[in-house]
Amino acid sequence: MLIRRKYGWEIPEALATDEDVFLNRRRFMTAGLGLAAGLGLVAGAPRLARAALTYPAPRNPRYVLDRPITDEAVNTSYNNFYEFGSHKRIASAAQKLKLSPWNIRIDGLVEKEMTLGFEDLLARVSLEERLYRHRCVEAWAMAVPWTGFPLSALLDIARPLSGARFVRFETFKDPSMASGQKQFWYPWPYVEGVTMAEAANELAFMVTGAYGKPLPKQMGAPLRLALPWKYGFKSIKSITRISFTDKRPVGFWEKIQASEYGFWANVNPEVPHPRWSQATERLLGSDKRVKTKIYNGYGEFVASLYQGMEGEILFR
Ligand code: MTE
Repeated sequence: MLIRRKYGWEIPEALATDEDVFLNRRRFMTAGLGLAAGLGLVAGAPRLARAALTYPAPRNPRYVLDRPITDEAVNTSYNNFYEFGSHKRIASAAQKLKLSPWNIRIDGLVEKEMTLGFEDLLARVSLEERLYRHRCVEAWAMAVPWTGFPLSALLDIARPLSGARFVRFETFKDPSMASGQKQFWYPWPYVEGVTMAEAANELAFMVTGAYGKPLPKQMGAPLRLALPWKYGFKSIKSITRISFTDKRPVGFWEKIQASEYGFWANVNPEVPHPRWSQATERLLGSDKRVKTKIYNGYGEFVASLYQGMEGEILFR
């Protein structure tokens, strides 16, 4: 029997989860944490107590790897985060990223626009760990134990209106903190977008941690996206705004060079980048190259999203 799960934006207002239920859950969690701290079970402020209790999150066994997890030390010292420089060694510059307070604006075609503190958002979702492959458009790849929650859970919180066709994500803009943003020829802030169907796909994951800990700054703390079937540039870091729109968002790289980086950016070894092959990928931390797979090996989860869309430039 085919059971079709209704997406958040398809649920009538009256049936959507009540705000009070969320708020009560949050109060319950906060009270629990306060109690734990009071009993001396957890040292420090409730904020720290929550992080301590949240990580490591239980691993979801559904998502399996075909390669070893990338060494944490390698992964945290080889990053793309252009806000802090247009090279891979940005980890120390990224420590300037100020994480508190961190607010996320949810706006556009939603029932009610809102601004959520990162901690408030965490209190409204359940965290889990997932092992995902990540394929950069530059033909290197990694495998990461991300912690986070499905993007569909955020759709449930945001309650998009029926006219919403795309989700647009935006990173902070603060050149005084992120020196790369002084490079005025780049179209700051970093923007990315997906369709509502892609956002509701079970693989689309909002990341808050990696390697069993809160996300390090250079990897996009406190909140980034992971879309493992797409080239890595779609996985936007340090998100401050999530907008629901009827217009297809133009991403940072698409704005810079649309002939090389498109909206869909699905991984395909048979469609070369205009300047290099996408047939193979180098595993980060080794010289080993492996064959790249269509949709980065996640076709069984996502190929159906693109049926009948052969006219679109799906693989760039
Ligand atoms: N997000 C922002 N805000 N700025 C960036 O420069 N780079 C993207 C993506 N998200 C980028 C970003 C690219 S090209 C890749 S491959 C991944 O982040 C790299 O993630 P990592 O540094 O955690 O490996």
